[in-house]
Amino acid sequence: MSVATFYVDICGCGWISLHFPARNVLFLPRHCNPSSPRGSLVPKGITLQHKVPAGLDRKEAEVYRHLDPERLPKHIAIIMDGNGRWAKRRHMPRVAGHRAGVAAVRSTVETAARVGIQAITLYAFSEENWKKRPKSEVDFLMGLLSRYLKAEVPTLNENNIRLEYIGRQQQLPDDVQERMEWARQSTAQNTGTVLTLALNYSARSELVDAFRSMLDAATKNGGAEHLQIDEDKISEHLYTRHLPDPDLVVRTSGEMRLSNFLLWQLAYAEIYVTPTLWPDFRGVHLLDAIAEYQKRERRYGGLNHGDSHAHAEVAKAQK
Ligand code: FPP
Repeated sequence: MSVATFYVDICGCGWISLHFPARNVLFLPRHCNPSSPRGSLVPKGITLQHKVPAGLDRKEAEVYRHLDPERLPKHIAIIMDGNGRWAKRRHMPRVAGHRAGVAAVRSTVETAARVGIQAITLYAFSEENWKKRPKSEVDFLMGLLSRYLKAEVPTLNENNIRLEYIGRQQQLPDDVQERMEWARQSTAQNTGTVLTLALNYSARSELVDAFRSMLDAATKNGGAEHLQIDEDKISEHLYTRHLPDPDLVVRTSGEMRLSNFLLWQLAYAEIYVTPTLWPDFRGVHLLDAIAEYQKRERRYGGLNHGDSHAHAEVAKAQK
């Protein structure tokens, strides 16, 4: 089928393209309001659509076209789960699942950066993993993390991604801590997506550390009687003080648990659970999660739009 592409500039803010007849799609620059009168040059029956970011593959682009780029979650947190099951199904050792999980990390993070997600936080290693898994598996994960950081820094820089960590890093092996610090500094100049790896992380330990840090700050600032506690103060002393709270939390492998992950910060997050095992997860699955997120109505304990309208009507009638 032949496709003709016409380029026009309807609002003076950049070129758009009209593709006929394959998709009948009009690509608009983000800031261009399709409902403005100047958009009325759009022929009837043609769908308005935003521009697909460079670098998305065909499947990702297909999902992205249905997203509203103005309502992307600012911060996505992911509980990467199912590596062991993925390996077991293939009669492979558990660590093979972790190794395969690296490709999922790469694809997910790159896609997040390409579509302009401000922050993505990955639960890579919990304090409980550290204490309860065999030493050989823990050692393997530490080695995998070190190799990932060394190999991935150039790609993180190409994608303008800044690396951060949360968790009790001081308990990790010295050589791993050194590699982590090197990778953090090597990406510190980047201004795009913030990739935060949760390593030796526990939400309850984070709260304990935050309370200790608040008390410590008050003591240095004239004594414990200067201790001020409110929600903002607690947030300022969490490991995640550099981040907005996540809007969306994704968990792979079908488990319906938060597993001690960002318990304070996830208070109002939308939860998305997929049966996909982490090593099979890719950027397109992240976009599926965002599509589901965009269908939800976030209420923060309030009423939904229809109910609040009805409520206003009742209040009016009672006057
Ligand atoms: C949970 O699967 C996953 C982990 C404990 C480790 C996550 C690590 C990776 C994805 C690999 C690399 C990550 C980075 C950042 C380099 P599980 O072992 O609990 O799976 P199961 O529940 O099926 O046993």
